[in-house]
Amino acid sequence: MIGVFDSGIGGLTIVRELLRRLPGFRLIYFGDTARTPYGTKSPETIITYAIEDTKFLLEHGAKIIVIACHSASSVATEALRERFPGVPIFEVVTPSVKKALAVTRKKIIGVIGTRATISSGVYQRKVATLAPEVKVYGNACPLLVPLVEEGWLKKPETRRIVKKCLIPLKMRGIDTLVLGCTHYPVLKPIIQAKAGKRVTLVDPAEEVAQEVVQYLERNPQIRKELAGGEEHEIYVSDLTEAFEKIARLFMGRKVLLRKADCEIAHTIKPGKI
Ligand code: DGL
Repeated sequence: MIGVFDSGIGGLTIVRELLRRLPGFRLIYFGDTARTPYGTKSPETIITYAIEDTKFLLEHGAKIIVIACHSASSVATEALRERFPGVPIFEVVTPSVKKALAVTRKKIIGVIGTRATISSGVYQRKVATLAPEVKVYGNACPLLVPLVEEGWLKKPETRRIVKKCLIPLKMRGIDTLVLGCTHYPVLKPIIQAKAGKRVTLVDPAEEVAQEVVQYLERNPQIRKELAGGEEHEIYVSDLTEAFEKIARLFMGRKVLLRKADCEIAHTIKPGKI
């Protein structure tokens, strides 16, 4: 199975893209809804959580791992590759950087994401290795996550906040903008309108899905092992009606969420007053 994890439900934007390109492949998802958000946490905590999430997926039959969460991709990829050698691990930052470099004309790229993603400086580091002449500017836009989760996709308040998030990047003259958070692709129309039509948006969900497809084409043996079945398993560490509603929003259809029977879900106990 293809294993995908995220801090919560947002990673379903990546599941949707994977399923579109890889029908007939079984997929297992783990959304750490009990401990979301990751974007406000320290790198150490995100690494610990990412290791536990990956373990859950591997124990439940995943053969390759896709880190859908940008915050985890930004700070935990190396730790996961060290901890799970031999497991192919895909993340959302590298394919987004490659795409941004391919489309920028003015060589000025903007990135929006959570605090964890932006303060990691991962985009600057990767671009500096691949194309040192290209400038990268980041801006953390944490307010967009709860707005999306509330379904405020077309509200004037959301438009105003998106506009505000993009001002510092527009002032730098960006011509390319990476949507560096699982939730942002849902806001594409507003972001495009506020960024202006000359700015090319990079959707990491599309880029990472494309990378997985190419990897499977290069590795027919693994492709054969992973193919077969339309039955997907979507696990969460905490299950509420609100999460089910958000899942529907991200996938564009009803999704059956299962409460994961795992240590992460069990160690989170109701607090005592
Ligand atoms: N999934 C997270 C990300 O893409 C956003 C939500 C969170 O902060 O956990 O960075």
